[in-house]
Amino acid sequence: MRTDEPIMTLQAHILEQQAHYPEAVGTFSWILSALSISAKVIADKVRRARLENVLGAVGAENVQGEQQQKLDVIANEVLLRTLGRREGVAIVASEENEEPVIIRNDTQGERRYCVLFDPLDGSSNLDVCGGVGTIFSILRHDRRAARPQDSLLQPGSQQVAAGYVLYGPSTVFVLTIGQGVDMFVLDPAIGAFLRVERNIRIPAASKSYSLNEGNRPTFPEGYQRYLDWAQKSGYSARYAGAMVADVHRILLKGGVFMYPPTRKAPDGKLRLMYEANPMAMIVENAGGKALAAPGQRILDVRPEGIHQRTPLILGSPDEVDHVVARLAEAG
Ligand code: AHG
Ligand code: MN
Ligand code: MN
Repeated sequence: MRTDEPIMTLQAHILEQQAHYPEAVGTFSWILSALSISAKVIADKVRRARLENVLGAVGAENVQGEQQQKLDVIANEVLLRTLGRREGVAIVASEENEEPVIIRNDTQGERRYCVLFDPLDGSSNLDVCGGVGTIFSILRHDRRAARPQDSLLQPGSQQVAAGYVLYGPSTVFVLTIGQGVDMFVLDPAIGAFLRVERNIRIPAASKSYSLNEGNRPTFPEGYQRYLDWAQKSGYSARYAGAMVADVHRILLKGGVFMYPPTRKAPDGKLRLMYEANPMAMIVENAGGKALAAPGQRILDVRPEGIHQRTPLILGSPDEVDHVVARLAEAG
């Protein structure tokens, strides 16, 4: 944090932003404040997980057919409890719930929003004290939708705000409301997120790629060509196994993150609505690119289901272009 700037909490930042919208009635700010409280509670639970014996699997699978960790369930409950009470929230959708949770569906009322989230991203890193995160996306509730949950199926370009929280050596909150990307760090001594960087710009290029290279034999040919090219060109490989940690590094240091189609996951592994879309909004607002395939912006994908998956290539604009060039060569 620069010492010549005023100290700005996330709360004050949100109010400052709200002042730019004279029509705002504060419901949106109220939702962001619920997300900030959730982040503090989850950060505390993640830090105390080993001491309180809440590491490991629940023994059940979530809607994705993946092992649920105890903390996946705990983080999900924290978010549902904080958001469920907020006036402006109409619908909440989570990686951990098969169906969206309808909080309110009155046709009157103030502006309403839908909040989608991945409560704990990279949760298999928990047992080894690796970085994990929370990802969220906020959409306007469409009261004209035939069914309340249809209101969620909007392309990522319609997001009002998106962000993530990284529970690493410090707890970092990264937020965009469509005009630049700002970063906050939790000061545990005072229990507040303090703004440490405004309008983050992703480096245009950096010789670094991030993907699960163990899947290489079943990647489409273009990705294999890219890896051959990158390795001959002196690139470094960096992969945390938690998208939040990998994207955060790329936001600050540059590079490209990918989750290509594989034989096991022909549509890729990552979820469009609460992983790819919010990260794409952040990366684009920082000057980067986010694609599902060459010529296919993530934010333009029309969703058909809330748990739909998508391949993903995102990061520094020049690095995304290098991947696209190899994919185009392969046809
Ligand atoms: P989640 O823990 O929310 O299911 O997400 C895990 C995701 C993402 O964070 C990460 O980039 C990716 O899965 C890792 O997958 P692989 O283990 O297949 O590389
Ligand atoms: Mn995830
Ligand atoms: Mn998760």
